[in-house]
Formats: sequence, structure tokens, C-alpha cells
Amino acid sequence: MVRKILFCIFSFVVLNVNAQNAKMKTFIDVLMKKMTLEEKIGQLNLLTPGGGIVTGAVVSKDVETKISNGQVGGLFGVIGESKIRQAQELAVTTSRLKIPLMFGSDVIHGYKTTFPIPLGLSCSWDMQMIERSARIAATEATADGLNWAFSPMVDIARDPRWGRIAEGGGEDPYLGSQIAKAMITGYQNGDLSKDNTLMACVKHFALYGAAEGGRDYNTVDMSRVRMYNEYLPPYKAAVDAGTGSVMSSFNVIDGIPATGNKWLLTDLLRKEWGFKGMVVSDYTSVNEMIDHGMGDLQQVSALALNAGLDMDMVGEGFLTTLKKSLQEGKVKLKQIDDACKRILEAKYKLGLFDDPYRYCNAERALKEILSSDKKVAAKEFATNSFVLLKNSKNVLPLKKSTNIALIGPLANDKSNMLGTWAVSGNSDFAIPVLEGLKNATGGGINILYAKGANISDDTSIAKKVNVFGTRIDIDKRNPQEMIDEATSIAERSDVVVVVVGEASEMSGESASRSLLQIPLSQQNLIKELKKIGKPLVLVIMTGRPLTLGMENEIADAILLTWHAGHEAGNAIADVLFGDFNPSGKLTTSFPKNAGQVPIYYNHLNTGRPNAGDEFQKFRSNYLDVENSPLFPFGYGLSYTTFNYSDLKLSANKLKPNETLMASVTVTNTGHVSGKETVQLYIRDLVGSIARPVKELKGFQKIDLQAGESKTVSFAITTNDLKFYNNNLKYDWEAGEFEIMIGTDSKNINKGKVQWIK
Ligand code: NOJ
Repeated sequence: MVRKILFCIFSFVVLNVNAQNAKMKTFIDVLMKKMTLEEKIGQLNLLTPGGGIVTGAVVSKDVETKISNGQVGGLFGVIGESKIRQAQELAVTTSRLKIPLMFGSDVIHGYKTTFPIPLGLSCSWDMQMIERSARIAATEATADGLNWAFSPMVDIARDPRWGRIAEGGGEDPYLGSQIAKAMITGYQNGDLSKDNTLMACVKHFALYGAAEGGRDYNTVDMSRVRMYNEYLPPYKAAVDAGTGSVMSSFNVIDGIPATGNKWLLTDLLRKEWGFKGMVVSDYTSVNEMIDHGMGDLQQVSALALNAGLDMDMVGEGFLTTLKKSLQEGKVKLKQIDDACKRILEAKYKLGLFDDPYRYCNAERALKEILSSDKKVAAKEFATNSFVLLKNSKNVLPLKKSTNIALIGPLANDKSNMLGTWAVSGNSDFAIPVLEGLKNATGGGINILYAKGANISDDTSIAKKVNVFGTRIDIDKRNPQEMIDEATSIAERSDVVVVVVGEASEMSGESASRSLLQIPLSQQNLIKELKKIGKPLVLVIMTGRPLTLGMENEIADAILLTWHAGHEAGNAIADVLFGDFNPSGKLTTSFPKNAGQVPIYYNHLNTGRPNAGDEFQKFRSNYLDVENSPLFPFGYGLSYTTFNYSDLKLSANKLKPNETLMASVTVTNTGHVSGKETVQLYIRDLVGSIARPVKELKGFQKIDLQAGESKTVSFAITTNDLKFYNNNLKYDWEAGEFEIMIGTDSKNINKGKVQWIK
């Protein structure tokens, strides 16, 4: 009976979708028959009139005239309901066919209410929360006129020199795929036509995170086996979750830039994965193929269209050359028609043909933007993204009555709280740590504050980082005067809390670093404060993993907060005072030094693995540093402790269709309740290709009261054993597998099973 009902519901949904698709097809067919070639090409043109954050050398000109001439398909970087309404009005009243524009933006970690950077959010390992963060961002952004988010960024990144590591979910393809799905679901909520959903745009397709040397926009070169197993899964997960659009990346793949790569945009994305939505280029990435050495503007534009690109962001190569290329037989009309159709379909699905002003609702904007419930969410997301890296002798949490010396260039600074890619966030509304501590202690009479150091004393770095406003504010005082002031308040206090790290623009796009330390000015400050002999707590704000060897040696506690968004200060106060027990876990390895990168837990074994960290001659290692990271993937402490025991495997030999139950008992052995993310890793011991030393295959975040135990079980099937083999066939292979469950990728309980065919 239940099956029958389910079948009826399923059939009804399928019929309904088919009917809707048929209706859309008819509408678009009729519209396209009326369109001239120029109008079709116009739809492929995405412009920015400036005003947002400009991430390339070009800003579009004569935008209004072009809109009226039907030469624009969409805009981005227009912020505000009334401005968007104005631009839409121009399109639907003055252009010949009155086709509405779509409005995109970099809604990356929140919209006007800014949440932690994506790398921070990923450390929550809480998919429902991450989905909610995208849902809330969509609610706010759509109220302000937007209908398209250039997010999520799901590029796997294993090289913290690359500044854009901040924008993604870290180094792991399994976790990255879960995050991709959560974000797409959050933005789109299963129905693009609702006035509070945004069309997602998964980016940057593909492999952008593997830029050589961690230098932005640099060459990528990798085997198909690595691509399929390690880098492509999150993009595929986004496609499977129904992302409406995909953005091509800047890098080359197999020597051909992604934007002009037919294998990537057509064979893989559309044919193999069945993607039906639209593909947009990144900012001027069509034109940039000229510098890649692929030909002149006409040639590269034709290359991009023929590869399967639908929309050209900013560069106007499509607008200015496609007609000529058609006349010369370099592109086919069908190719232009297909691209135009996909863009019109997106607009149709967004409901823009029903009501071009669907997303322009001043009343909703007033109600939604920066509303108090969003602030509450921003604080919740921030506290959940923090990772406690060290806490010796339980120096944290602090008592609210403790006399605190709050020191550091990021302790009372609004401009660096939001982090990279907060294009619509206003840092004036950010809560710095000093304010957060005062809020939590009823005025903060027991808190003394000193800046202590500049984020960096290097004026040339400051100049490069201050492109979107002052982030590094070099003090008029000399460094010693600042340190003296700091040590003098430290001497008068019970505990020293130092807020240090990176300015927000030290990570993100075009913000690669060759060294990964906290800048020297701040290192000096930390060392001087250590000499005072008071408990030393570091709060570290950053957009990337940093090398924290010295800091880890001398600090008593380290709380990693990333760039935490608007509510940073309040969230940090909650954690420092123990009102919130931190539970974040790293989603990227923290190297001991920059020479170790790329560094990631799921590496291959090599033929000469180094057993442990001790140097062994003729094994794979370094003379001057161990192989292991300072903090491994999955690592993070709590104010309580968890004990893992009793790993049980339901069988030791399994047939293909059998399920292995792997369980472990986790006990909260401390004095307060806490959350723990229990992680499952599997190693395929023998394969037709070399397999990683371990791969994350599942995780569960559980809540445990002090003294409480829970059994956590994972159901493992052969689906969890599949990988792409040398012929790119996705399958599992019979043999022995190690099953590992633990608190991070290093501390695990192991068992072994055999799966037979
Ligand atoms: C360039 C960036 O690579 C991309 O992530 C962003 O969405 C576009 N600029 C638009 O701002």
C-alpha cells in the first residue's frame, strides 16, 4: 500500500515536472523565434557596472545603453533593491523584447549579515548548519533584489599558500561534497521560482585549488585519476544536488583553459554528469585565454562558445565577435541558440518572466536585511566554526571576573572581522573582541586593552592589502612603544589574551603568500608577552592555515577563529568564557612550515613511506622537518575530553551486498557537556591503483553530557569502497580494508575486514 502511494506521488511529481518543462520549452521557443541574432548574443553578456568589489582590470561601460539595446543578459555587482529595480525597469521597458535581466552577486558567506568565511564554516562539520547559513543568506540577498549567487566555491585546496583556500571547505573530497550539497540546497531550496531562493553557481570549475606553487591563477596539471578521485567529487555533488549554474575557472586543464575546454564543459559536465543548467565564465576569463596563448579575442570567444560556455562575464568577447565568427563559419548558430536557451531557461525558472521584480520587494528588504534573528544565527555559526588548538592546564575557559589584558592588532578592529569576499557586508556593524568581552562581562571594568603591534610593520604589504579600504593600519607609534604599553597592562592582569593573525585581505583572491607565519610584528609581541609569565591565550584570526610552531610552543591556549563575520567578538567572548564549548575540527592540515605544502592527510603511501616522524635514510621525508603536520585534518579540542573505546566490526569477511556495521563507544570523560565529531576513515590496502593511506567516509557530530557514553555506528557498503580506476571506471575492488574511527585523522581506532566478490 505504502509503495503504491509513493509510486503515485512519484508519478505525479514526474508528470508535473514534465508538464512544466514542456510549458517552459514552448515559452522559450516562441520567444527565441522573435529574437534577432544580436539579441541572442546579448543574452550571453554578463556585465558589472562597478560599485561592488571589482576583481579584474575591466569594468563594463555604457551599461544602460547596452541594456536598452538588448545587449545584456544579466548584471552583477549592483547592490540594493532600488538600484536593481531601476536596472530591471530599463530592461523590461526600453529593450525591444523586454527580456528581464538576472542579477548575480558574490554572496559567499552571508550577504549583508556576514557569517564566518567558508573555511571556518566547514570546521563546524555541521551540514544542517551550513545549509541554514546558505538559506539565510538567500533570504536576505533575494529581499535586496538578487537572484543568483556566485557560490558555493568547492575547490579542493591543499596548499595554504593559495589565498582562496579561505573560500572553500578544505582538503577533503568527501566532506567537500557534503558541503557542496548543503550549500546548493540552502540557496535553491528545491524551487528557484520562490522569491526567497537564489540560483547557486558552483565554482570554479575545475581544479582551481591546485594552482602550482599556491600562486593564484597559476597552471594546474594533474592526472585524470587524481582529478576524478580527489578534485572533481564536490563539483559533481553540486551538479547532483541541482545547482542551476556553474562557473568555469581561470586555470588550464590538460593545457586548455577551463573556459575554452570542451572536454570539461561539454563531455564531462553535460554528457557524463548530465548537467542541464547554464555555464558562466569567471571574470574576463574568456579574454584571458589570449594571454594563455590561445589566439585573439575572436578566436578565444569562439573557442569558449564551442567548448560549451553560455555566458561571458565582463569581457564582452561574445558580444563583440560571435556574429563575425558565425559569418565566417567559426561557430554554429545552434551553439549560440543553445547558450541563449539555457540563459532564458534560468530566467524562466527564477520566475523572472512572470514577474521581473519578483526579487525587488522594499518591504521584505526592510524586514530581512540585518534583522536580529540573522545576528543570532551569525553568532551561532561563528562559535561553531572555532577550533580550539591548544588548552594546556585548562587555562580556558576564563572566569568573567578575571583581570584580562586584551592585546593585539585584531583585538579592537572592525575592518578585519568580516574576512575575504564579504562584498556586501558593512564592517561598521562588526563586533570586535574588546566589545564582545565587554558585552559579556557587563562593561568590562576588568579588561585592559592595548594594540601591542601592527598587523604588519611592512608598508608595502599594507599597501597591497589595503585595496578595498584600510585593513592594516600602521600606528604612528614605533613598535617598541606599542609593545611597552602591552607588557605594562599584561603585568597588571591575571591572564593575557592576544588577538593576532592575518588581515582579512591577506587571504582570498589574488592574496597568495609564500610564507605562512603570523607577521613578524605580531610574533615579536607574542614573544615579549610570554616573558611576563602570565597565562597566555592566543586568539588567531586567519583565512588560511598558518605555521604556528612558535606560537604553539609558548602559548597556553590557542583558539582559532578564522575570520568570523559580524558577530566575531560576541562569539569569541562566549567561547573564552565557556558559555559555549568549542567543537570545531580542522578541515585542512596545518603545516609545520611552508616547505611541507601541499600537505593533506589522504595522501598516497609511496614506495618508501617513513614510519612515524623519525628521519630514516632512503625513505620519503625531509632532513629538516617531520612529515606530519602541526595539527592534522579533523583535529580540534573541547573543554571536555572524549574517550574512544570498543571498536566493533559486525563481520570480518563480507560479500558484495552485505553491510558492515562499524561502531565505537565515545565517552565524555570531562566535567562539562560537549559536542564531538566522530570520524570514519577507510583504507583500501590493495588496489589496481595506489590508494590513499586513509579516506574520510563518514562522520557524525554527537552531543554528550559529562560522563555520558554513546555508541556511534556507521553502516558501510561497497559503495563506500568505490573509486575511479585507471580506466576511470567507478567501482570497488575486493580485498582487505582498514576501518578506522577516531577523533581526528591521526588518532584513530583500527580494525580490518575483507570484502570478497
Ligand atoms: C572573480 C572570482 O574568481 C569569482 O569567484 C567571482 O565570483 C567573480 N570574480 C565575480 O566577482
